[in-house]
Amino acid sequence: MKTVHSIQAIRDFVLAAKADGKKVAFVPTMGNLHAGHLSLVHKAQEQADIVIVSIYVNPLQFGASEDLESYPRTLAEDQAQLKNEKVDLLFAPSTEEIYPEGMDHHTAVAVDSLSNMHCGKSRPGHFTGVATVVCKLFNIVQPDIAVFGIKDFQQLAVIRKMVDDLYIPIKIVGADIARDERGLALSSRNGYLTQDELTIAPKLYATLCKVKDAIQAGTPFDIILKDATANLARAGFKPDYIDICNQHSLLPASSKDKELVVLAAAYLGKARLIDNIVINLN
Ligand code: PAF
Repeated sequence: MKTVHSIQAIRDFVLAAKADGKKVAFVPTMGNLHAGHLSLVHKAQEQADIVIVSIYVNPLQFGASEDLESYPRTLAEDQAQLKNEKVDLLFAPSTEEIYPEGMDHHTAVAVDSLSNMHCGKSRPGHFTGVATVVCKLFNIVQPDIAVFGIKDFQQLAVIRKMVDDLYIPIKIVGADIARDERGLALSSRNGYLTQDELTIAPKLYATLCKVKDAIQAGTPFDIILKDATANLARAGFKPDYIDICNQHSLLPASSKDKELVVLAAAYLGKARLIDNIVINLN
């Protein structure tokens, strides 16, 4: 597997692949790859002839007090894993390649209608950072399809809306959440958890499962959310939010909505964990 760093090199590669009639799938990541990322690669491999992965820790999606500096950067290990998975090409650009005029002089892509709620409330600017870099990466790579994890449910919704609104001709594919044997959603930020916190962390998903049961049993949403928040706090989390939403608009669900998603974020020690559960009541 080759690693390229320049826009020109990746464009040449994709142009040649498409000239050969190959379907190209793209998996954007920030590296520090784990089994969750590899499941995105496998999904991409099922759907295309060529799979390209990018690794780029995008400064624009990190807030001033967030973990940009400490975010784990493990390029050599990531390369070995991708080679093992028979990925065709790795794109690992520098910030100079992605933001040649610096972070303050770039065109931003803002999907405001989906960006200021849930995670966007405590991470202002985060989804504009994500949409901007994903739009740039899409224009650089020009794949036929792109694969994103459903774990980042709001991110996936933002990207789908950007692609629809801007008529970007790329099919967006969502891949199921990869979990460990105790239900903890895999995430690079799990690496911040201590041994003790690792025993608590699966309770986030356990709480979401209880919320699902309660919704299916017809318990009023306000009671469910009060209990779930108290549950998380008792377990040792500092809950950020837990919201029952319409799967499509991400607005608070009413009792008439049938396609729901419960979105949650909670701090545990140094980590901010997110998770979700989809509920179809039909
Ligand atoms: O989900 C991620 O890893 C990042 O938000 C993404 C989509 C690669 C954009 O930087």
